[in-house]
Amino acid sequence: MGKGIAPAKTILFGEHAVVYGEPGIAIPLWGITTTASFHQLQNLNRKQEFHISSPLIGLDADFSEISVNLPLKKLIILLKDMLHLTELPTKTLQIETTIPIASGLGSGAACSVAVIRAFFDEYQCDFDDAEVSAIAFEIEKYYHGSPSGLDNTTISFGKPVYFQKEMGFEILQLGTKLNLIVADTGIQSVTSVVVQDVKTNYLKNQRYLKEIGQIAKKARPAIEKGNISEIGLLMNENHELLKKIDVSCYELDLAVETARKNGALGAKLTGAGRGGNFIALAENPSDMARIKESLKQIGAKIIL
Ligand code: MEV
Repeated sequence: MGKGIAPAKTILFGEHAVVYGEPGIAIPLWGITTTASFHQLQNLNRKQEFHISSPLIGLDADFSEISVNLPLKKLIILLKDMLHLTELPTKTLQIETTIPIASGLGSGAACSVAVIRAFFDEYQCDFDDAEVSAIAFEIEKYYHGSPSGLDNTTISFGKPVYFQKEMGFEILQLGTKLNLIVADTGIQSVTSVVVQDVKTNYLKNQRYLKEIGQIAKKARPAIEKGNISEIGLLMNENHELLKKIDVSCYELDLAVETARKNGALGAKLTGAGRGGNFIALAENPSDMARIKESLKQIGAKIIL
């Protein structure tokens, strides 16, 4: 039975700016994943047709009943076409995830990548990560409006990347293990809406987006050398600029401040913002434990 797995991602530097051709840096989070797997149909009373079951995204339906507006449906139609299938399998595709949804950790791209890999595995097709990423990118357009490609690239290749739209990407080697905390404000936000707002105010935002790009450029050697104090400072600067383009919110700012006051070297929102997740960098595991405790006290949910 075909199976596919995909990690979450977190953007260390450059969200939003990366949509406008500036560089961005993201890493996969293999501690939280989405899995898609094919199973025999369980309920024999049900119509004998392709079925999707994903309790966590509130989906348990025969394929014909699923709205064509759902990006997942569009993906499966695309895969059916690509694989020249006359019929979809009379099986259940089970999708399970530990990635919080609509929270900046790439849940949409991870779902696409896991499903693409499950189909390729089920039909024993040869494929590489670049092909997986290209298909996932097509579906990202339904989630993001005008995606940069950073999410699908990081999640498909499953490695840290330095990414620049239309220039391609490079796999980054981290100079040291990062003691990174990922935590959720619990506020869901829709990426396409936030991306659209940044676009609407592009004239006002333009200079900040360029400055964010400069930060990502400076962050690259710091990450490769493992210079964690420099990475932390740049994370703080990046967050301040994200505030200026109006993609932060009270809860994110409070969380970031709390992490810093409790010893984080740096902290920032991650992903589209206006809620969702944030990241904090600690110098060592004992600082990490203290920062996590302080974040729990303000109501944040520790993801990693
Ligand atoms: C969303 O995870 C990241 C954004 O930069 C959008 C994109 O890169 O497509 C906000």
